[in-house]
Amino acid sequence: MTDHLDIAAAAAGFSIDANPSHAPGPFPNRAGSLDDAMMRAAADEITGWAGYAPTPLHDLPEIAERLGVARVVFKDEAARFGLGSFKALGGAYAVAQLARQAEAAGGSITDVTVATATDGNHGRSVSWGASRAGCKAKIYIHAHVSKAREEAMAAFGADVVRINGNYEASLAACKEDAAAHGWQIVSDTSWPGYTEVPLTVMAGYTLMAREALDQLGGKTPSHAFLPVGVGGLAAGLIAPLWQAAGADLGKMISVESHMSACMRDSLVAGAPTLVDITEETLMAGLSCGEVSTLAWEIMKPTVSHCITIGDDAVAPLMRWFHRRTPSIEAGECSTSGLAACLAAHADPAAWKQLGFGKDSVILLAGTEGATDPEFYQRIIEAA
Ligand SMILES: Cc1ncc(COP(=O)(O)O)c(C=O)c1O
Repeated sequence: MTDHLDIAAAAAGFSIDANPSHAPGPFPNRAGSLDDAMMRAAADEITGWAGYAPTPLHDLPEIAERLGVARVVFKDEAARFGLGSFKALGGAYAVAQLARQAEAAGGSITDVTVATATDGNHGRSVSWGASRAGCKAKIYIHAHVSKAREEAMAAFGADVVRINGNYEASLAACKEDAAAHGWQIVSDTSWPGYTEVPLTVMAGYTLMAREALDQLGGKTPSHAFLPVGVGGLAAGLIAPLWQAAGADLGKMISVESHMSACMRDSLVAGAPTLVDITEETLMAGLSCGEVSTLAWEIMKPTVSHCITIGDDAVAPLMRWFHRRTPSIEAGECSTSGLAACLAAHADPAAWKQLGFGKDSVILLAGTEGATDPEFYQRIIEAA
């Protein structure tokens, strides 16, 4: 069975870079960023929603033994609110806030339309949030988003618009139509002048790390592998860990596809840097060419290293999880942290650079389950 791990360890596309700006310092707790008040408010509200339960933190002892570290833990978001990914925490929370604001302003929620561009998971959260709040949703998807993901959003009553282009093209179309019709954009990425909603989205994500910290008995991990699309999830995971550990924050390691390494390119350049995506990774949620400016602010001082991976590890690791840890349903993006970890372990210089030892505790983010069930089944049954 270890052949799946060996294949993943040898997969092409691995690279590692140190972040030249790495210098965490104390947690800034700055208003307008992910401060304590925002994180608390998100946790208080979301933990009160019907169906809330903390997602499991699974130990992966076979991996810990292979790597020679104390623990490898996998925060498994597959069951989050029945939506299949951590995204359930963000978009839906932002929609709930917007609905509350509309009500407070004396408006009718049924007049509110929320709009977003998505690879699938964020759109599902926004669609679900809109159906919970009683407002309308317009969801923009790009050419490569699967039919199954499209249908999952439409099932919540959202109007799903497919754009002939990549993620950036769907975002441009969403922005243009929202401006023309007075819709509220609920994006999971931020840009200059548009920060309030994505900050709320990221505040929702922080609950994932707060739960993990509880499950680790309040101890912060020595290493966290953070899957990055625009960086919202990674920043949402870092903030509570940074708050808990301060300047002793462990190694925060960004993980991207080498086909869309916008965070790596930005950190290495010292400024947000665009990537023109010419090939789509199988890890659809990671296929983003531009970092979120809010995430960037948090990640610039805190990320220690940037790792890229290719797609060759995705299927073997999905199968490894399925066979060896049947209680974990790991979708495409959920393999990314383990893929990065195994590839780094196979490269002695990288392993040393990352400072691993027998006491290391590694946090992996299982960001999605079978969010595209047909794809998941096909991969699982193939070998
Ligand atoms: C399953 C999954 N993992 C990770 C990510 C990356 O999150 P972010 O774009 O906030 O960096 C996404 C984003 O869509 C996702 O859907």
